[in-house]
Amino acid sequence: MKIGNYSLNKPVFMAPMAGITDKAFREIIQLTGGKYAFTEMISDNALLHQNCKTFQMLNLDGEEEPRIVQLFGSDPDQMTEAAKIVERHKANIIDINMGCPTPKIVKNGEGAALLKDLDRAVKVARCVVQAVKIPVTVKIRLGWDDLSIVALELASRLEKTGISMLTVHARTREQYYSGKADWKWIGKIKQTIQIPVIGNGDIQSPEDALRMIRETGCDGVMIARGALGNPWLIGRVQHYLETGELLPEPEWKQKKEIILKHFEKLLLYKGEKIGLNEMRKHAAWYIRGIRNATEYRNQFMTIQDSAGMRRIFHRIFDELDEKDNEIK
Ligand SMILES: Cc1cc2nc3c(=O)[nH]c(=O)nc-3n(C[C@H](O)[C@H](O)[C@H](O)COP(=O)(O)O)c2cc1C
Repeated sequence: MKIGNYSLNKPVFMAPMAGITDKAFREIIQLTGGKYAFTEMISDNALLHQNCKTFQMLNLDGEEEPRIVQLFGSDPDQMTEAAKIVERHKANIIDINMGCPTPKIVKNGEGAALLKDLDRAVKVARCVVQAVKIPVTVKIRLGWDDLSIVALELASRLEKTGISMLTVHARTREQYYSGKADWKWIGKIKQTIQIPVIGNGDIQSPEDALRMIRETGCDGVMIARGALGNPWLIGRVQHYLETGELLPEPEWKQKKEIILKHFEKLLLYKGEKIGLNEMRKHAAWYIRGIRNATEYRNQFMTIQDSAGMRRIFHRIFDELDEKDNEIK
């Protein structure tokens, strides 16, 4: 499939995830074999108000192409201006969020609220496409709730705005992240539009990804929660789809190196205090399934500095070395 000048073969996208897919995490995805990672969603409003923290989210220095920035907003004029800023900051692709279910977002008419106002959704997409030279993509859900599935109509209308790819998270807004993603809609959308369709929802393994492609005909897949504490999944799925070879889960000794790198990158990009705080949640995900995980998790929560955090990691690694891969 193609997006603008980029040729992507069965792409596996690391999903945009607020609070997760920051620069450090995207670099870890690329270090572990993943090729395509979205930024966290970025507010058009915050960009236009020159919010300093928001601009830090636009730091794409040194990242592999294509660099994909996700924007959220509901005002076509504001989105136009924000898109131009994003383009100037070396993004290669702009994605528009039409699926975020969070109350504080939808109450402003943003994210999944656009599923209730298709005219506005289409106008936002058209304005952004016209504002920039780089390709624009959109990520949607199926509709607001079971009684208002709009994905097919929205997909056709969005295609006409000139967007280059559509990602479908096969849930409604009311489902948030629960229940099962209904993949059949991904298949229906794929049969309805010509632009590449990316399937998203409930992929936890390389086999899940292949099953989604076989069942729906989608051009690529996107993975979110499956990569928490397991960034290797993106590269393993990519490798499986490209070659048919199922790589083993990484050994704990490979994991160690990446976990420590992830921590150092967080400290580098966010400083001691925020970097440490952000690492607490990743650390808890990384050690899921090991012996004494609860105890270590408590230690992560109370530790006060990065040196202490490193000490806990080394204690865990030593214990795992001794017991030779206790991880399940
Ligand atoms: C913590 C969290 C943050 C998320 N942030 C975003 C976001 O910023 N933009 C977006 O489009 N989707 C966001 N999502 C939705 C995911 O990208 C994805 O569509 C959803 O989790 C379904 O995929 P999965 O079943 O692989 O997790 C987020 C999901 C979670 C759990």
